[in-house]
Amino acid sequence: MFITFEGIDGSGKSTQARLLAEALTGLGRDVLRTREPGGSPGAEEIRALVLQGDPDRWSAKTEILLFTAARRDHLERTIEPALAAGKVVVCDRFADSTRMYQGLSRGDLRALVDDLHRLMIGREPDLTFLIDIDPAVGLSRAKGRQGHEERFEDMGLAMQARMRDGFLTLAQEFSNRFKVIEGDRAPEAVAAEVLALTLAALQARA
Ligand code: ADP
Ligand code: TYD
Repeated sequence: MFITFEGIDGSGKSTQARLLAEALTGLGRDVLRTREPGGSPGAEEIRALVLQGDPDRWSAKTEILLFTAARRDHLERTIEPALAAGKVVVCDRFADSTRMYQGLSRGDLRALVDDLHRLMIGREPDLTFLIDIDPAVGLSRAKGRQGHEERFEDMGLAMQARMRDGFLTLAQEFSNRFKVIEGDRAPEAVAAEVLALTLAALQARA
């Protein structure tokens, strides 16, 4: 089973991916936790290219190609082998992030993102948790971190709000696999809901 976490910066995706992976491991499942951009040695190199440096470093279209190239490598080298080995794959961000960030933030490029996804990736998660949160809360949490990966982090409140709305619309578009989770709660409360939904989905597939 292929599970992804999506949401705006600071919504708690990484925290929840870790807690879910730990809980499933504790229940005896074989779990691989991974993230995008990155998740394989080649894709981690591309991560540095897309997240570091000047915000204008790449054109909108070049950026889509770089994220998709990273995803292709991650899929081939990390995700597909783990799924073939029967593992539960828990991934922090995947193609829905490209649909939002590259598809919405610099003009309407969603059709291009979708075309490239169909050609080069062609795989959707089985289950996607959208950790939904007020953009002001997400931004204040994300600002607590300091680092070099800030190309997207200065998007500001208005853009974060657009991304949040976009993710909620995407959850309706792919309602078969999305679960929208209220993220402004204690991490343990969010994790308990995520685990219960995951176990129900695993049981339904057994
Ligand atoms: P994301 O991966 O979505 O950017 P993180 O999981 O890295 O989010 O969380 C961002 C920051 O907020 C971290 O410092 C983390 O410890 C904190 N955090 C995560 N979940 C919660 C929560 N439910 N309540 C309060 N703080 C949280
Ligand atoms: P991430 O490391 O998940 O950051 P955060 O924990 O703050 O959410 O992702 C880094 C940035 O990369 C994030 O601002 C969103 C952006 N991103 C895209 O623009 N497109 C993509 O396809 C992916 C996977 C991430």
